[in-house]
Amino acid sequence: MRTISAVLAAFAAVSAAVAQQAQIKERPLPRLVKKDGRFALFVDDAPYLMLGAQAHNSSGWPAMLPKVWPAIEHLRANTLEIPIYWEQFEPKPGQFDYSVIDTIISQAREHRVRLDLLWFGTWKNGSQHYMPEWMKADPARYFHLIDKNGRPADSPSPFCTAAQELDVRAFTAFMRHLKAFDPQRTVIIVQVENEPGTWGPVRDYSPAAQRLFEAPVPADVLKAMGKQGGAPVSWQEAFGVEAEVNFHAWAVATYVGKVAAAGKAVYPLPLYANAALRDRIKPGAPGSYESGGPTDNVIPIWKVAAPALDIVAPDIYLNEPAQYLKVLELYHRDDNALFIPETSGGAAVSRFFFSALGLQAIGFAPFGLDYSGAPAVPAGAATAPPAGGPAGASAPQDQFAATVQNYALIAPMMRDIARLNFEGKFQAVAEEAGKPAQTLQFGQWIATVSYGASRGGRGAGNPVPTGRALIAHIGENKFLVAGYSSRVDFRPAAADQRRQFMRVDEGMYEDGVFKFIRILNGDETDYGLNFRSEPVALRVSLGVY
Ligand code: DGJ
Repeated sequence: MRTISAVLAAFAAVSAAVAQQAQIKERPLPRLVKKDGRFALFVDDAPYLMLGAQAHNSSGWPAMLPKVWPAIEHLRANTLEIPIYWEQFEPKPGQFDYSVIDTIISQAREHRVRLDLLWFGTWKNGSQHYMPEWMKADPARYFHLIDKNGRPADSPSPFCTAAQELDVRAFTAFMRHLKAFDPQRTVIIVQVENEPGTWGPVRDYSPAAQRLFEAPVPADVLKAMGKQGGAPVSWQEAFGVEAEVNFHAWAVATYVGKVAAAGKAVYPLPLYANAALRDRIKPGAPGSYESGGPTDNVIPIWKVAAPALDIVAPDIYLNEPAQYLKVLELYHRDDNALFIPETSGGAAVSRFFFSALGLQAIGFAPFGLDYSGAPAVPAGAATAPPAGGPAGASAPQDQFAATVQNYALIAPMMRDIARLNFEGKFQAVAEEAGKPAQTLQFGQWIATVSYGASRGGRGAGNPVPTGRALIAHIGENKFLVAGYSSRVDFRPAAADQRRQFMRVDEGMYEDGVFKFIRILNGDETDYGLNFRSEPVALRVSLGVY
């Protein structure tokens, strides 16, 4: 229990910090921009690619941060995703404790890292576990949803107005504080709740919920789901087997949408909600996946019920390429920027970072990349920490390596990649087993990306499919090319012409600037442009004869 004087001292310190922040010149507000059908996250008034890493669930505490920053530095991540816990933020009704938020933001500034703060509010993975203790102690007032057997489930009811009002109040206080404390815009985006929805019951079966389920579907939901016109219909009549899951999505999205709108009204940062996915190739019946969250089948419902959210985003824990790529496609929509706020970080999927870039992803963040030694660290992981890592800490090098490799290449060229992608001059691909080559069209030029190619031969695929490549059109007959475990070549679209390399500059980006190393020629270009495991970039001038 803190004494009153300690609370007053903390309050005075925070007020002083806020006053000091007020002297600092405001940077432009981060914002999501759409132009010519493409999205970009603007940070400091220019397209920004979030090279993210998400901390473990219990790492958002001051005492844990020394196990977070060395990992972020080692990864070269430019954005840390880290939770803010409602139970910490509002220890007593209406009393907000900003100290943890301020510590995280101040340390992020010292480490020159941006933040995506995750509001663990009413929902965390479908449950109410992060509600303040004084709320959890009063389940009659802050009630759970009722399952089919009439029993309370481990999930909050989206119809609990009392809880919703408190979440609105707390989230608004949080956003108001960010506005005052962060003119530097260290925080560039905020996640509202975490994987909202319910595991187990498909919806709330309480009498009050049942009445709404039997009432007419709101017209905007019908329209969004492509069911226009006609007389008012109940959820069952409108949607059949999907009725309950659609109803729950509407209920949860409406609740989250109110929380988001209230926060956005005081500080309009980009906001998003994340989804625990359903099987996207062979979707199981409702009940086989988390119901109510922004799964691919109910994105239109989330869009109309929670318009204050800029993005609905998939958490992708999948290794199978067809599944992974399908998810990217489903969330890359005309009304939704692709953003992957959580994914597994292992070697098997790291190449799909490039697939995401190829669909103009605004950000990508493997989950659980810190040194807190929480469960996601694989047993038997290497134990030597990298330089800068905490002494004696467990450093799961095997889990980090794939992300380190991606970010080593992209971090120094991040602004160019984000801009070229926003301008529609960029494409990127990843290897899929059984597909040793992919072609990409750039106007008069066709690029071929192949994998596992021998010196003069064709690619047969890498023994383990890890290849990836990016190509950007940077001028007339000029391309920026980079990648790993791949070969890139070009040919003119016109059949009677052949390409010649006019010049191939090999270099390495440093702080956004291409630093020339050498001109590549001879064996290094006669069989195409080859990328192995080192981070290099090529600037290529093409001609024909
Ligand atoms: C998805 C959740 O959103 C994360 O907070 C975390 O629980 C991971 N699953 C798994 O550890």
